[in-house]
Amino acid sequence: MSDQLPPIAPPAAGTPEWAALERLAAGDSAFDLRPTLNDSERRNRLVVEGCGLRLDLTRQRIDGETLDALLALAAAQGVQTRAKAMFAGQPINTTEDRAVLHTALRLPRASSLVVDGVDVVVEVHTELDRMAAFSSAVRDGSRTAHGGQRFRSVVNIGIGGSNLGPEMATAALRPFADPDLDVRFVSNVDPAHLDAALDGLDPRETLVIVCSKTFTTLETLTNAKAARDWLLAGTGGDSTAVAAQMVAVSSAADEVAEFGIDPQTGMFGFWDWVGGRYSVDSAIGLSLMVAIGPEQFAEFLAGMHEIDLHFQTAVPEQNLPILLALAWLWNGSLLRHETVAVLPYSSDLHRLPAYLQQLDMESNGKHVRLDGTPVGVETGPIVWGEAGTDGQHAFHQLLHQGTRIVPCDLIGFAKPATGNQQERQDLLVANLIAQAEALSLGSSEAEQLAAGDSPEIAAHRACEGGRPVTVLLAERLDPRTLGRLIALYEHKVFVEGAIWGIDSFDQWGVQLGKLLARRVGPELTGAAAELPHDPSTVELIEAVRTLRDG
Ligand code: F6P
Repeated sequence: MSDQLPPIAPPAAGTPEWAALERLAAGDSAFDLRPTLNDSERRNRLVVEGCGLRLDLTRQRIDGETLDALLALAAAQGVQTRAKAMFAGQPINTTEDRAVLHTALRLPRASSLVVDGVDVVVEVHTELDRMAAFSSAVRDGSRTAHGGQRFRSVVNIGIGGSNLGPEMATAALRPFADPDLDVRFVSNVDPAHLDAALDGLDPRETLVIVCSKTFTTLETLTNAKAARDWLLAGTGGDSTAVAAQMVAVSSAADEVAEFGIDPQTGMFGFWDWVGGRYSVDSAIGLSLMVAIGPEQFAEFLAGMHEIDLHFQTAVPEQNLPILLALAWLWNGSLLRHETVAVLPYSSDLHRLPAYLQQLDMESNGKHVRLDGTPVGVETGPIVWGEAGTDGQHAFHQLLHQGTRIVPCDLIGFAKPATGNQQERQDLLVANLIAQAEALSLGSSEAEQLAAGDSPEIAAHRACEGGRPVTVLLAERLDPRTLGRLIALYEHKVFVEGAIWGIDSFDQWGVQLGKLLARRVGPELTGAAAELPHDPSTVELIEAVRTLRDG
């Protein structure tokens, strides 16, 4: 392995490839989606299958020429060279001087990846084995709570990447989880969140998993201390209950010890080369493993690994993450649509939009390139969404007839995860297909008139259509499929970041707010004489003090 980092991609906006794309984007208003759907050659290029996923980009405002231009851009910006560097463990997260190796978390046991003289695969599987032994013992009752009771509930405390992944995946894989274990998640420092999570739980039967890469995150440590007090109060104040019923997941053993958990016996570790939002497949996924068991967790990892292999080996024209990334980039950076709606047609995937929001926005919400110079083009969009069909009865009105164009990723499954509910699943999928058709084809005023609408109402009922839609289809939502979906979006994010030449793996933008919150906290009590803030902030703090103490 060479330690030489690949060159930073040139500023995208200055390249001939970008200029060609801008010319194409300028002509977008003349693009008519309807006739392009009859073009079988175009459909062949824009529907790609791999790893059990069917990616359908035919409803994107992309023709053959645009696709060629986008692929040329990806090649010119060195996406695949940078991907090679990532998979090899080079420190491509240069602002934090770290490798980006979440892909090593799903390498099979028999493989090897030596980084700085260490075979990380051995380390990963050692930790996976510890997690599996622990999870199995909790699930089969051989590991009990302090008083010998079987664990009936698990409370996972963490925030951001130390919460969203396991929370989303545990909800998504609900049909695969042990029904006798109630797994709950707490992230917000709002006391209401922990209160709600603990509501109805018996501290004598509850396992608390505290997840924090740094183990310094204020929200997580505050909640962890409150949960520890709750455990102690409910178990007779015997401090050994903490060792029996509280474990940590972190890469900071010293901080864990400082908190009062023995890193040797009560901690599961991971490495600084795993970014928070890329950590669901590390020990951060412990609560998920406890819920679904080590075998299903291994399936989840296998699905991710399949996509890793596909991303590294498939030609760009057939490469799912590259094509998905190019569609997002076309809509965001070239057509300048500001948001993307992620619409999973699966209620179990209701936290996927929030998960992808962090994955995408924390990774690609950046304003400078790796060398510190302005990116010069629009980077990551605002990601939002909701499970279908709920969203249809809430905000789809705007998607169909609003003045803002919102590209949509519709994600669906042909079969229900388990059980004999095919009829209802069919109804769900029919809605997905209907939305894809309605958003992309619409119904013109003339068509509405022809269908019998009065002239007064036809304009109100007409839907313009032409909305960019991606449809992702899989057979069913199971651990392997979920792993594939997550890895697909991870690499999508990577591809866009590589094209823009940004660091998709740091998150400096969140630091300022954290620092200020630490300062403001003590000021709310009124003890601080000085309020070194701008006048507006001073008045706000004073208003809070008045309400708080009044
Ligand atoms: O808020 C930013 C962030 O650093 C995320 O990137 C991270 O996932 C989250 O905070 C939690 O951090 P930690 O796991 O260190 O508690």
